[in-house]
Amino acid sequence: MEENNVLLHVAHLKKYFPISSNILRSRGQVRALDDVTFSLREGETLGIVGETGCGKTTLGRTILRLINATDGNVYFDLPKDVMEEIISKEKRLEELSGNKDLNKEEVAEKEELLKAVDRFSSQYSLTKIPARKLNEYRKKMQPIFQDPFSSLDPRKLIKDIIAEPMKILTDMGSEEIFEREKELIEEIGLSEDHLYRFPHEFSGGQRQRIGIARAIGIAPKLLVLDEPTSALDVSVQAQILNMLKDIQRKRGMSYLFISHHLNVIRLMADRVAVMYLGRVAELTETDILFTEMLHPYTKALLSAIPSINPEKRKSRVILKGEIPSPADPPGGCYFHSRCPEALKNCGWSPRDIAEPIGSMLEAYRNPEASDFPPLREIVTDEEENLVDIVLASPIADARRTLNLLNELIEKEAVKGAGIMFRAIENITLLNDQRTIRVKLIEPDIPVLKEVRKGHYVSCLLYDGPPKVTREEALENVSSTN
Ligand SMILES: Nc1ncnc2c1ncn2[C@@H]1O[C@H](COP(=O)(O)OP(=O)(O)OP(=O)(O)O)[C@@H](O)[C@H]1O
Ligand SMILES: [Mg+2]
Repeated sequence: MEENNVLLHVAHLKKYFPISSNILRSRGQVRALDDVTFSLREGETLGIVGETGCGKTTLGRTILRLINATDGNVYFDLPKDVMEEIISKEKRLEELSGNKDLNKEEVAEKEELLKAVDRFSSQYSLTKIPARKLNEYRKKMQPIFQDPFSSLDPRKLIKDIIAEPMKILTDMGSEEIFEREKELIEEIGLSEDHLYRFPHEFSGGQRQRIGIARAIGIAPKLLVLDEPTSALDVSVQAQILNMLKDIQRKRGMSYLFISHHLNVIRLMADRVAVMYLGRVAELTETDILFTEMLHPYTKALLSAIPSINPEKRKSRVILKGEIPSPADPPGGCYFHSRCPEALKNCGWSPRDIAEPIGSMLEAYRNPEASDFPPLREIVTDEEENLVDIVLASPIADARRTLNLLNELIEKEAVKGAGIMFRAIENITLLNDQRTIRVKLIEPDIPVLKEVRKGHYVSCLLYDGPPKVTREEALENVSSTN
């Protein structure tokens, strides 16, 4: 099957909000979007799903350039050959960047690619082009927001509300606009006399319909829908969602459909991107995501959907801990600290391990540590990946103490949550004879990778060579026979 052209390509998009406690001093930043990459084809709906605060709204707003990106590119509605060249160059650049030992030719190739990507970025990316050039694109992408009550100006007639984008962004005359409005109001299931009323005369669902009419009046190619039905009653939701499907079928528009409701995403999206802490954890076709999800976070997220099958209900994955703050994300894979399938190289850092080491060594919490010398404190060094266990006094028998520590660690490591102890590279006693230095291994950082055809996952569990699905493997066997 021939795939439609790519309409929107988002590449390494980042949005960091500064956190400032007072006007002068800025205290770090919130990584609301942290390197997001995906494409959206013509006529396609890409669902964006993830828990609150994972960056869905920020993604939509940054693509629309309602807020400026910190870094990265948004390519939209470019000539087919330009879009294809950008995507293929970026893909090659990524391959080269992922390879640590490049030969001389590859280093030169990488240099060239970096320059080319920079040129494309400054010439075409919506994140870079001057604001005056934006109108041309604004005509072709329109937002639909969650709240149908605040998004319509209460002092204006529906007629003027729907007409506004056509007036501002097109050169349509007022008669032509009015003709279009009459079609639009029918299309969204209201009638001509509704044009002469004010927003407060309508229900939430009707207002959202009016918002949709306003957005599609200028025949955009892309709608960015941010929780478009989350504020509405369930019965009204279904009507609006069906209407959006009809409109899309008729007009061939693309939708970026943001929702934290998995059932809504499943109903609406052709493909889904699952976000966690500003990053895409997994991206694939909707049916595949709901049946053959790969990322441990997706598994946990989807297991929260109430199941009618009592057998299946048991398998719900309860994640430990809270979602970490995007102002201070964990090292390595952002999900490692809550991941039921984490490996030793997934990102364990001193701050993950300091507390558990403390509990392990304090005899009143762990009787097996009663022979271990008393602790004074545990000091972490995130930069150097070190945890220093400082004892109350110098020890006499270093070998015995280190052996004891190793034994205790070994016992912890085989427990359910003990995988973090496997991240310990070595343990040494410093010259002061009272500081035991625990060095952790360097974590690996997963990148979003195509692990099966069209199925992207950012997880070290799938970091091996590309795997084929069972069906593909069988197909290969039969075709070689
Ligand atoms: N203007 C802002 N200034 C500072 N931080 C912000 C701003 N907007 C969003 N954030 C932060 O960025 C992160 C992502 O927020 P965002 O609203 O994009 O999440 P979301 O996925 O849309 O959540 P929800 O499901 O609740 O709508 C959050 O930590 C949020 O607090
Ligand atoms: Mg939001």
